[in-house]
Amino acid sequence: MGKVRVETFKYLDETIKRMRSGGLLLVSVGRDGRPNVMTIGWGLLGVMWRKTFFVVAVRHSRYTHKLLEETGEFTVNVPGEGMEEVLRYCGTVSGRDYDKFAEKGLRPVPGRDVRAPSIEGCPIHYECRTAFKVEVEPGALERELEVEIYPSRDYHTLYYGRILGVYARED
Ligand SMILES: Cc1cc2nc3c(=O)[nH]c(=O)nc-3n(C[C@H](O)[C@H](O)[C@H](O)COP(=O)(O)O)c2cc1C
Repeated sequence: MGKVRVETFKYLDETIKRMRSGGLLLVSVGRDGRPNVMTIGWGLLGVMWRKTFFVVAVRHSRYTHKLLEETGEFTVNVPGEGMEEVLRYCGTVSGRDYDKFAEKGLRPVPGRDVRAPSIEGCPIHYECRTAFKVEVEPGALERELEVEIYPSRDYHTLYYGRILGVYARED
């Protein structure tokens, strides 16, 4: 059963719930067209500049960071049942060292609105293009959080992905 385009925030609750328990799968793509996938546990969905956004937070050390700097296009995929091992693997291994799609038998499905593919088997996905990004600057975050989150000074870039389409399997 193919996916259909749905209203942007139709699956807001479910997406946030899954992000907070287990995580979501962020797929990015470099200039060479090769996709990479990483697990994310942090993100924001909302409205800004009259448009809808999915904001993802990616540390500078991630291979995904390099790819987002190259193209800025990404998909966020809500995993299906039984993908716990994929979430674990994609959240610990780097695309610098391994082709995670190949290693985990994940099938990329071409994006409709962006160059980054989605992942077959994920019932909901968001297609996004970075419209704005901002660095978490040393000293800008309240001290308690700065100490807890950035002990090794591996800061995040916040990528504001303008949501171009949301697709879901509705059967
Ligand atoms: C549940 C979970 C949530 C995570 N959330 C984030 C996140 O929001 N941002 C981030 O930079 N790294 C996050 N990570 C870590 C990356 O997924 C991990 O470092 C990954 O190997 C990076 O892959 P890459 O180098 O191919 O980009 C998370 C890991 C897990 C297991």
